[in-house]
Amino acid sequence: MKGIILAGGSGSRLAPSTDGINKHLLQVYDKPMIYYPLSVLMLGGIKEIMIISTPEETPRFRELLGDGSELGITLQYKDQREPKGIPQALTISEDFIGKDKVALMLADNIFYGQGFTTLLRNAIKNHSHATVFGYRVKDPERFGVVEFDHKQKVISLEEKPDEPRSDFAVTGLYLYDHRAVNIAKKLKPSDRGELEITDLNKEYLKWGQLDVELLGRGFAWMDAGTHESLFEASEFVKITQRQGFKIACLEEIAYYLGYISRDQLYERGKTMEKNDYGQYLMEIADRPHSQQYWDPDSIDQHPMLGLAGNE
Ligand code: G1P
Repeated sequence: MKGIILAGGSGSRLAPSTDGINKHLLQVYDKPMIYYPLSVLMLGGIKEIMIISTPEETPRFRELLGDGSELGITLQYKDQREPKGIPQALTISEDFIGKDKVALMLADNIFYGQGFTTLLRNAIKNHSHATVFGYRVKDPERFGVVEFDHKQKVISLEEKPDEPRSDFAVTGLYLYDHRAVNIAKKLKPSDRGELEITDLNKEYLKWGQLDVELLGRGFAWMDAGTHESLFEASEFVKITQRQGFKIACLEEIAYYLGYISRDQLYERGKTMEKNDYGQYLMEIADRPHSQQYWDPDSIDQHPMLGLAGNE
């Protein structure tokens, strides 16, 4: 499965903080926002990832993350010249996706919870056509809303409805087969002038090919799109890291997945040895050998994966 992270948009809801920088490069507590979606795709076992942003900003993402080799993954970058909605990410990545399946993720979405890696890996393993992840919220009218029956069969989908039929928001993580590209090409803009991901999902629903995975009460899902929610996300990360583990620490995940060596981890830590992030990496590299490399296929059983934030 390939991965796409959509990190475009003007970020106007976060101005003036975003006047000089893309919102997904802003800090969520101790690391840039883009680390969080990237950690999700990596924990899902996805190694080939495309990052899409504006022509002005893709060079900055490239500067931050390079070609991915330092994390043992492959990163590519593409420009979204004019923002026309989430489904455009799929048409922009048409050649990259080819005949593969794809996980599309919005770069301001943060997921956290015990068992998340297992849930995600299972969803990827069992995925056939289209899968969305539902999360109960107090304000469903702000999101795509999914309604389902007692067997968890999807009944309806609506984008920001005035009267939501359920309390379950559709989060910004979507799994598709390669047909999503062609569906995206045929979509027409909605009243807000954008191609809607909900319209794309409705096509799969029409064919009876849309599955929903529910993230229960033990999970946290946040989007960091406003001053308030960005601050809350930082506070949340700070609290979850109280146990001494970092979440969404890409180097650590790469290490536990066996993508990078102990030496690489240590060296990377050393470049930041004056701060807690660098010291954390060096500390992990110094741990006994028994707590290190783990078979990626059974990573969800890794005794230390809590360190990666989503055991
Ligand atoms: C978008 C989608 C919406 C989804 C949300 C998740 O909303 O259109 O269906 O629930 O992302 O973050 P937007 O961020 O464009 O308001």
